Amino acid sequence: MKREPLKGEMMSEKMISASAPAKIIIFGEHFVVYGAHALAAAIDRYITVTASHNTSDEFFVYGRLVRADHIFNAIDRITKGRHVKLIARSQVPNGAGLGSSAALSLASTIAVSKLFNIKPDPSLLFEVSMNAEKYIHGNPSGVDVATSLYGGFVLFKKDELIKVSSPIIKFLIVDSRQRRKTGNLVSKVKNFMDRNPELFNSLVNLADLMAKEGAAAISEEKIEQVASYMNVSQSFLELIGASTPKIDTIISSLKGKVLGAKITGAGGGGCIIAIPMTGSMPKIGYTVNAGVVGAYQLNYGIPISWHFDG
Ligand code: PMV
Repeated sequence: MKREPLKGEMMSEKMISASAPAKIIIFGEHFVVYGAHALAAAIDRYITVTASHNTSDEFFVYGRLVRADHIFNAIDRITKGRHVKLIARSQVPNGAGLGSSAALSLASTIAVSKLFNIKPDPSLLFEVSMNAEKYIHGNPSGVDVATSLYGGFVLFKKDELIKVSSPIIKFLIVDSRQRRKTGNLVSKVKNFMDRNPELFNSLVNLADLMAKEGAAAISEEKIEQVASYMNVSQSFLELIGASTPKIDTIISSLKGKVLGAKITGAGGGGCIIAIPMTGSMPKIGYTVNAGVVGAYQLNYGIPISWHFDG
């Protein structure tokens, strides 16, 4: 059946669509901001943005005109003052730790680059999307954008990205439905660090080690080890103030049904990731495939080198 166009979809000659996957952070959120490695993976939930030429800058989400100054400011590097209409469709909840803002910035950047026939270059796409992220998060580590762009499982440290070879792994996602802003949680964790510098420094070192050993465990499919590191990682996140009573309740209710469970992303609500026991699937949440291809291969189909110079 033919779909009626959404408001904002009329009046375009050339329309270019691009998609970017959401992500989960398996180890190292928050600590990655202070130099630790994080292990993250692209998941099969996507944001798609359609770009077309326009007489002013407009951003539509499901037919609703919304402000997206951070995106228009960042993509100006590509549009160079020329106006575009962007229309977004999303399978990713906002403010839930799944990297929706990074995927939105990246899908917008790719769609606009293709609209203006800019040669695909992963470092340019990374840089432009990071500029959009900086407008809203202040000092992002880059793990969200890098994972959405490069895909698969990635061991990420500021300015360094290593591909972790692993088959696709299923994770359970449970959404606490508490929404929050990443920047507020990053500030809260900074306050914790300022009050407890030595303790925080030790946690950064341990988180770094867990991300690296966790990455090796993922590639060797040692799922029980990954799950037990996830439980330890959750206790670190509780200690630094990234959990909430609701998250703690959900995680307790999962005991005996999953091997490991933790916050993914900034916390303060948002989503929990868990590894279910074989054959059992708790009735809350949904499963995603982690380790899918990133936005670059998805939209350009070009294999990328894993050297990361963002
Ligand atoms: O924005 P989220 O919830 O996907 O999480 C971002 C991860 C943090 O480590 C908390 C922040 C960062 O910039 O790495």
